[in-house]
Amino acid sequence: MKIPLIGLGTWGLWGAECERIVRLALEIGYCHIDTAFAYENHKQIAKAIRGFPREELFLTTKFALGQVTKTMTLSQVDDKRILKSLEKTCDKALKELGTDYLDALLIHWPNRERPIVEILAAMHRLADKGKIRYPGVSNYTIHHLQDAYDAGLSVPFNQVEFHPHLYQKELLDFCQSHGTQLIAYRPFGKGKLLGEEPLFAELGQKYGKSPAQIILRWIIQKKVPVIPKASSEDHLRENFTIEDFSLSEEEEKSIDLLDQQKRYTNPTWGDFKY
Ligand SMILES: NC(=O)c1ccc[n+]([C@@H]2O[C@H](COP(=O)([O-])OP(=O)(O)OC[C@H]3O[C@@H](n4cnc5c(N)ncnc54)[C@H](OP(=O)(O)O)[C@@H]3O)[C@@H](O)[C@H]2O)c1
Repeated sequence: MKIPLIGLGTWGLWGAECERIVRLALEIGYCHIDTAFAYENHKQIAKAIRGFPREELFLTTKFALGQVTKTMTLSQVDDKRILKSLEKTCDKALKELGTDYLDALLIHWPNRERPIVEILAAMHRLADKGKIRYPGVSNYTIHHLQDAYDAGLSVPFNQVEFHPHLYQKELLDFCQSHGTQLIAYRPFGKGKLLGEEPLFAELGQKYGKSPAQIILRWIIQKKVPVIPKASSEDHLRENFTIEDFSLSEEEEKSIDLLDQQKRYTNPTWGDFKY
């Protein structure tokens, strides 16, 4: 699997601003654009990517289970109906994004009251048809993943919240040992994490980098691709310039120790205790 280490998260980017920022990001050199039906910006992203060679882009979108299962419950699983409904959802994303295929299509949130294993199986069928390159999931714990592996399904991607206050080491090790690539979302805790730890500024001063760059460097040194959101040219450029320095093993460990198992994304439907 080839996925760029730095991508652009687009939650909260809408309308003309979304189009402008995504285009600027691509001009700077970003290739991975992360979106979701829930972000309501597919059409603006479609406009922004027009003119860029499709094969150089990595487009990820996510769907809500309710879009596919509608009212279907676990006791009425119908594989044909799931595939048909999933394909319709995927086709909608393709149309809105103005593309023939998605690089990654992810289940946005798990819900064990829905047939999530069957939906993942149907996503593999869409990959066979060439509509998506990789099926994947988001916000999955080790146990959700294990359920998929037990059904004989591979899970190429799991996009989760991951940053120094939520260093999900056990999940990362588990994913790495099962061929699932973890992707880090909300690396700055929506920005709140940036001013909270003096260590980021201290290391930043040493390397001539900002706290944001120190955090992103810590993440990519763990071989985890990351998708910070930015809405200014300065932030976009800064976040894209983290491959010209490295943290020592000791410095990386000192950041590991900042872990508080703190989630900046913790909705009522998050099944994180599973
Ligand atoms: N799968 C999921 O369930 C899920 C959930 C949440 C997020 N995500 C994805 O992850 C992406 C990133 O998460 P996020 O948008 O919530 O938050 P984030 O990336 O952790 O933080 C974004 C905030 O950090 C600021 N920022 C960015 N670069 C900066 C820099 N170099 N210096 C200082 N501040 C900087 C941004 O400001 P400006 O906007 O002013 O530049 C913005 O306020 C989302 O956009 C989305 O694609 C996925």
